[in-house]
Amino acid sequence: MLRLALPKGRIMEESLPLLKNIGIMPEEEFFAKSTRKLEFNTNLPELKIIVVRAFDVCKFVENNAADIAICGLDVLEEFNDTLNICKLKNLDIGHCRLSFAKKNGHNPQGSILNIATKYPNIVSKYLENTGFEANIIKLNGAIECAASLGLCDMICDLVSSGRTLKENNMTEKLSILNVTSYLVASKTSLRIKNKLINDFVNKFN
Ligand code: PRP
Repeated sequence: MLRLALPKGRIMEESLPLLKNIGIMPEEEFFAKSTRKLEFNTNLPELKIIVVRAFDVCKFVENNAADIAICGLDVLEEFNDTLNICKLKNLDIGHCRLSFAKKNGHNPQGSILNIATKYPNIVSKYLENTGFEANIIKLNGAIECAASLGLCDMICDLVSSGRTLKENNMTEKLSILNVTSYLVASKTSLRIKNKLINDFVNKFN
């Protein structure tokens, strides 16, 4: 049996047509708005789907709770410390970028900038590499609001259409990561369930 982790939200929306194209359909209850279930059968007897939060995908795969997953490069870069995850295929969905942005007209007063982000590991690595000093404020959401309300001088967050920045009176300043979603697998599952995983990956070719 293979367990595939799908992140809620935009990646899920783009993953379902991709799965449908290769003949994979979750059971009907998956689509029921009222369902509280998180694990679903599919039309393939050997494949189950679990629905997880985007930022938790790596945890599930690293610990072999899921054998495979669809995961944004942003999450892989931020959370994949244990190296038990292997990228199998760039699925060319979930296109966006991780960028620094600033509130229009804001001029920082202090010498050290405050940067709000959901990605403290990526941002601190970037700062280390560039020799730039800043305080990182870790938030879990509403990042753009933090800038409008003066909680930070800059933000570092995903930009897709640019609409969120525009509607919050902000401007993108510097993009540091181009993001797409990957099919990934736990290295342990790859060893133990090699044929099942290879057959699954080959469906995408
Ligand atoms: C992401 C990101 C931005 C927004 C950018 O949030 O954090 O807020 O999308 O997209 P745009 O450029 O098309 O406006 P998401 O909607 O994934 O929700 P989240 O804040 O809960 O992560």
